[in-house]
Amino acid sequence: MHVRDAVHTKRAIREFAATALSATDLNAILEAGRRAHSAKNRQRWGFVVVRDRERLAALSALGPWCGHVAGAAAAVALVTPDPRIEGASLSITWDLGGAAAQMMLVAWELGVGSCPATVYEAQRAREILGYPEDMHCEFMLSFGYPAQPDALTRPNQTGGRKPLDELIHHETWAGER
Ligand SMILES: Cc1cc2nc3c(=O)[nH]c(=O)nc-3n(C[C@H](O)[C@H](O)[C@H](O)COP(=O)(O)O)c2cc1C
Repeated sequence: MHVRDAVHTKRAIREFAATALSATDLNAILEAGRRAHSAKNRQRWGFVVVRDRERLAALSALGPWCGHVAGAAAAVALVTPDPRIEGASLSITWDLGGAAAQMMLVAWELGVGSCPATVYEAQRAREILGYPEDMHCEFMLSFGYPAQPDALTRPNQTGGRKPLDELIHHETWAGER
């Protein structure tokens, strides 16, 4: 699959088959995160891979839209220094978004669906995952083979993204659209 095809066709998958991820697929997904670029190549992240069903269920209660984590074959908790503390750089979130996107795009190429989940209960996340006080988990990713296999090939929804001419400004913000 060409990168641009993966970028164009990938969509969030929230319902997963009850099949474990193959070790090869999971490793390829994690490698895609490892290879991500980062500001000054600092790689300020750790990825906690969760496959235990009880732990996945606990993670699915960390926010109002985390429910899909309960049915994932694996969740990857994205752990970084807290980007909100004084003196932290916003590049932490830039870097992490890139790593997450790479993992999800490689997953898509392999026929593995994924979806982010936003963590609202930071302290509970720390208790479940056991990372230290100076680290933070704002987002997790669910991964799994889709419950509906045609989810990978369904055409994109019309209107799913804004058209280019609503986003692009030529030369200046006030420039030609
Ligand atoms: C930063 C971020 C946080 C997100 N958090 C959640 C979430 O908590 N739960 C969820 O189901 N989807 C979450 N999503 C997925 C978005 O809802 C999804 O990417 C968006 O609706 C586009 O979906 P599509 O690619 O299928 O069109 C999140 C996405 C991003 C980028």
